[in-house]
Amino acid sequence: MKKIEIIKGDITKLKVDAIVNAANESLLGGGGVDGAIHRAAGPKLLEECRRLNGCKTGDAKITKGYNLKAKYVIHTVGPIWRGGDQNEDSLLKSCYSRSLEIALENNINTIAFPAISTGVYGFPFERASKIAVDTVKTFLSENENIDKVIFVLFSQVDYNSFLEVKGK
Ligand code: AR6
Repeated sequence: MKKIEIIKGDITKLKVDAIVNAANESLLGGGGVDGAIHRAAGPKLLEECRRLNGCKTGDAKITKGYNLKAKYVIHTVGPIWRGGDQNEDSLLKSCYSRSLEIALENNINTIAFPAISTGVYGFPFERASKIAVDTVKTFLSENENIDKVIFVLFSQVDYNSFLEVKGK
């Protein structure tokens, strides 16, 4: 799968058409990658987010990237891990597929994802990685218009673990 790239780093630094934010249902900012994206994009991002009336878990909404190098931010809301029997897997899958659908609708060719739900929301990392890779692979096999999907892992441990899952 040449269209998939895995890197270790800070997603806010990437020059791609769109970066994906692991947001919460309010879309009004928070900690983790969400906080980092809002800090790097500047206050206009929050202004635009306020007009979106939030976002349901498993869904996604798009804004401009403002001071980011990325042209757009696709905000998706991952599930909070509640033990695995509360539909967490399909909600996480939906975060990736909805984000990619919105990317297609906006002629986005290159998109970068963080490891949605695996921080504050507590989704087990390997299980989340497998869902991320499987969903993206399936989407790319059915849609030709996306040129590159980059998975951005923040720590060395996550990066190593993600590579191993992808190789399986
Ligand atoms: N670049 C790439 N990945 C990052 C960065 C970064 N700059 N910063 C953190 N990560 P989290 P969630 C990784 O907690 O679990 C927020 O408060 C991090 O190491 O950001 O979906 C929202 O407002 C982890 O692997 O998102 C929500 O309330 C991954 O990003 C809630 O957290 C996701 O961790 C969402 O929780």
